[in-house]
Amino acid sequence: MPSLKSREWTLASRPVGMPKLSDFQHQDTEAPEPSKGEIQVQNSWMSVDPYMRGRMYDRESYVPPFQIGEVLQGHAVGTVTASHHPDYSKGDLVTSMAGWREAWTADPSSVMANKMPKTNLPDSALLGVAGMPGLTAYAGILRVADLQEGDTVFVSGAAGAVGSTVVQIAKIKNCTVIGSAGGEEKCKLVKKLGADHVIDYKQHDSYEALLGALKGAAPKGIDVYFDNVGGDHLQAAIEAARPMARFAICGMISQYNATEPQPGPYNIIQVVGKQLTLRGFIVGTHVDMQPQFLQDMAKWIESGQMKFEETVMEGIENAPEAFLGLFQGRNTGKMLVKLG
Ligand SMILES: NC(=O)c1ccc[n+]([C@@H]2O[C@H](COP(=O)([O-])OP(=O)(O)OC[C@H]3O[C@@H](n4cnc5c(N)ncnc54)[C@H](OP(=O)(O)O)[C@@H]3O)[C@@H](O)[C@H]2O)c1
Repeated sequence: MPSLKSREWTLASRPVGMPKLSDFQHQDTEAPEPSKGEIQVQNSWMSVDPYMRGRMYDRESYVPPFQIGEVLQGHAVGTVTASHHPDYSKGDLVTSMAGWREAWTADPSSVMANKMPKTNLPDSALLGVAGMPGLTAYAGILRVADLQEGDTVFVSGAAGAVGSTVVQIAKIKNCTVIGSAGGEEKCKLVKKLGADHVIDYKQHDSYEALLGALKGAAPKGIDVYFDNVGGDHLQAAIEAARPMARFAICGMISQYNATEPQPGPYNIIQVVGKQLTLRGFIVGTHVDMQPQFLQDMAKWIESGQMKFEETVMEGIENAPEAFLGLFQGRNTGKMLVKLG
């Protein structure tokens, strides 16, 4: 197999505030013929995710920062085009962390590649509902928030990849679900996914208005909050929480581009009196749930209890645009880039 032509993206500069297209740079390259122990892969899909913004800061975190001039990384799905590795053959479907590029050649372990069985799902689902965002939703709501049948659950970012999955898992577990999302169309979708109440937070654009809407939807309070957004949503959830409520703190996208330190919720003292549990988590800590997650997800998708949406941008050239779109609310469900 000859080398494959590829295009790839690097970080040109560390974004300040909202990232700009000029913070990214692309280059032409080639994925060479594999040497011993390597595979050559043609990517068909790549993921853009909010956590990537965190890796653009030069600071210590649970994953190392991206380096200026180095190829960006992220989840991708592709097909093996040549193999010099005993465990991989031409035609195998693989997931990897070698996203932001069209093709690659490497030792599979160096890019966290995994051979995937062919299923009835589209390959793109391996980056969404059956991939990292799906497991985040599953572990976050079932284990971190310790979901109980009959709970009243509030989910922010409810039309996104993680949030829309959380809404549906909570409905499968017979909970009352309130989903918050930006805009009428997204709220319609959240309702269609089964949420009992929806809040268009863009129509409630002050803390007081958001809290009023949440209290209207949950007059007796909430038992669980799944936080994707932070800020006013978190504060309103603390205010509306019942005693002993559990919060799965998954993300705070409203603060990812902040250039100044952000204030904490002013009502944090209620954590004491209401005996709330606020528990942050990272999906990687819960990979032990992967087998059960895949089994449940396959069953739920098959039975029609779990639906998934995707927003697809075509071509590697649009990858930065897709990434920026996450912070502009341009995606419904999983934001993906289709390659090739
Ligand atoms: N802890 C973990 O291991 C883990 C793993 C995966 C994801 N996460 C976190 O989970 C959250 C959701 O991730 P995702 O991949 O599913 O992304 P997503 O929800 O599919 O996409 C991001 C969405 O965030 C909303 N948003 C953007 N800026 C906002 C703002 N200022 N205020 C309120 N909402 C805003 C937008 O929806 P609207 O149009 O509705 O505003 C946008 O569509 C993120 O916070 C992410 O960092 C955490």
